[in-house]
Amino acid sequence: MDRREFGEACAWGAGSLAATLAGHAWAAEARPRSYGRVLLVDELGQPLKAAGLRTQTNYVFHYPFEATPVFLLDLGKAATATQLVTREKQTYQWPGGVGQQRSLVAFSAICAHKLVYPTKELSFISFRKGAAVNPQTPSKGSDLIHCCADHSQYDPARGALVLNGPAEQPLCAVLIEHDAKTDQLTATGTLGGELFDDFFKKYEMKLSLEVGPNAKQAVARQSTVRELDRYCRNAVRC
Ligand code: FES
Repeated sequence: MDRREFGEACAWGAGSLAATLAGHAWAAEARPRSYGRVLLVDELGQPLKAAGLRTQTNYVFHYPFEATPVFLLDLGKAATATQLVTREKQTYQWPGGVGQQRSLVAFSAICAHKLVYPTKELSFISFRKGAAVNPQTPSKGSDLIHCCADHSQYDPARGALVLNGPAEQPLCAVLIEHDAKTDQLTATGTLGGELFDDFFKKYEMKLSLEVGPNAKQAVARQSTVRELDRYCRNAVRC
């Protein structure tokens, strides 16, 4: 490279860097966060097979921490990649569903509004097949995740995009891998607006009673998947 070419290359590089920085000033990107690789297992401790999941049924497991619940859903239809934005205006590309039909999705079950979550006793938030039936909460679609506390609705086929209600950002996505050979599922990380710090702050006492001293401990190795109706005594519908 001669002196002129070198000068042009430097000028191009500086311009390109400036353009990139300018772009990121208004559109910071939310990056995937890796946690431990955790195999999803059934209630007998055997690796869960994706083919064994019932479509449009609420399943719950805990990840990335012992006290943080996640919805696992087989939507029964392909979920394609979707561009989303967090409350802090960070953009991210939700990668869509996994599995043979790309229909398997997972989201943190902590509502992005006031952090309502499913416990063993009670759940105000869950996936609902079909449209919402409550006339006070006209549904902007069907097959949505509803939070009956203040009627936020999220679309799990579009990365848990907020369709209705006071929630200001999608549910945080949990990234899962599907092994086509074994049909097993592994949770690997999260993507989007995490609310775990707020969650632990808000419910510290409650979680220590519900889960014990390991509430904030990262889930290691495997996590048990249960149907919501088996995990929770009273799953409220709205
Ligand atoms: S806590 Fe879910 S909508 Fe308010």
